[in-house]
Amino acid sequence: MQPTDIFVGSIDQGTTSTRFLVFNRDGEPVASHQVEFTQIYPNPGWHEHDPDEIVSSVETCIEEATREFEAKGYSRHSIKGIGITNQRETTVVWDHETGEPLYNAIVWTDTRSQAIVHELKQRRGATDLQRLCGLPLSTYPSSTKLLWLLENVSRVRDAYQRGTLAFGTVDTWLVFRLNGGVAANVFVSDPTNASRTMFMNLETLQYDTKLLDFFGIRGKIHLPKIVPSSHTTAYGRLAAGALAGVPIMGCLGDQSSALVGQKGFSPGLAKNTYGTGCFLLYNVGDRPVISTHGLLATVAYHFDGKPVYALEGSIAVAGSGIKFLQNNLDFFGESREVNDLALTVDDNGGCVFVTAFSGLFAPYWIDDAKGTIFGITQYTQKGHIARATLEATCFQTKAILDAMEKDSGHALSELAVDGGMSNSDLAMQTQADVISIPVYRPKMRETTALGAAIAAGLAVGLWRNFAELRDINRAGGAVFEPKIGRQESSGMFARWEKAVGMCRGWMG
Ligand code: G3P
Repeated sequence: MQPTDIFVGSIDQGTTSTRFLVFNRDGEPVASHQVEFTQIYPNPGWHEHDPDEIVSSVETCIEEATREFEAKGYSRHSIKGIGITNQRETTVVWDHETGEPLYNAIVWTDTRSQAIVHELKQRRGATDLQRLCGLPLSTYPSSTKLLWLLENVSRVRDAYQRGTLAFGTVDTWLVFRLNGGVAANVFVSDPTNASRTMFMNLETLQYDTKLLDFFGIRGKIHLPKIVPSSHTTAYGRLAAGALAGVPIMGCLGDQSSALVGQKGFSPGLAKNTYGTGCFLLYNVGDRPVISTHGLLATVAYHFDGKPVYALEGSIAVAGSGIKFLQNNLDFFGESREVNDLALTVDDNGGCVFVTAFSGLFAPYWIDDAKGTIFGITQYTQKGHIARATLEATCFQTKAILDAMEKDSGHALSELAVDGGMSNSDLAMQTQADVISIPVYRPKMRETTALGAAIAAGLAVGLWRNFAELRDINRAGGAVFEPKIGRQESSGMFARWEKAVGMCRGWMG
């Protein structure tokens, strides 16, 4: 079989939806299916997913996309490998012997561990953690979610005491279940996902006893084995369904995957993905850079040889802000209509919306901030609030770029973007105006799924090296040039920073 006859599948398990795409050697999606799944908000600040529904959403997408693939005249047997990319930090616990989930998955946006974080910050050694694992203490990583489960859910605590508690991020849970569960017991994670738990040492890419000891996790818990992001055997194979027997050969947390999909393989390259949240990853090469300006150090990818690291700026709310306008305030029926609504007015009319629904992440890290709209008058229309919602992500991106410049000593000359909100021309023009550098949007925006396909495709031999990926998705992109002066953009940003300062200290 020639490489051109080979295809790879990509499971993209995000925060609000799941997709499966089949890519050809030119990196083009030839078949795809997407489903949304249930978001569970049991209390203010809590956010859960049903672990079984996550799996069934993946199975549905594989079945439907494979059906479409075959309807187009291809054979399912030409899909030779599968990559997985997933929402990160989201925490799943199950019984290692039965495979049964012990609680809903606690989603990365969930802030219920706020009091635990507050207490942990007083502990000796708290300030040493970031140097080892790249992340500061907050409600965001998996570690504090796991501690909440151990403190508050008796089934989880009992399993821990019996020695049968299995912990995993969504990649681990999916690999385990898609391989058939306890029968095969494939129990692995890749370094890009494991680096979001706070349990992995960034240098060794293995669990660090200092980190585990700090969190009081000792011996009794089953933690997945950390294996490279691209591997021919470690991730097993699908046990059932239309693609039964196809090996899983790639695994990347979704933001790392988007960096790979944008081919950000050289130090100094960066991408910003506007999904449920928004995440800017900047390739720093083969040594981690520990931020002193509110950013995270994370693993970009580990294919073969040395791992590659990134500096990350994480924004909790991007697309979820638009969903809030749609679902909670009934502003429109479809997310894409936000663009039209925002265009009904010329500017934000003096409104600034700090969309701190999960506290504020990078570079501010204010766990107890709450979403707040400033500047409302009788003049305020829905369009102003829609604009302010889009601008919130753009302003946080600006704050992250400033921090990144301080940490790395380099200023970006262009920002590559992808993800749902990047489809809005208005949002991307606003982004360019706020950061005063051009914004580049590629033609094919399924870069997150493409990244996992690349991880699998490198293992299966669809591509042999990065050079063979060079021409993928190069033509037909759009560039948004800044249209306002630096003085005007600085004024807008100063108002945003003032609003952020006023969001602190909401404990309610
Ligand atoms: O860290 C959370 C991130 O992985 C979620 O990504 O695309 O679902 O916003 P997304």
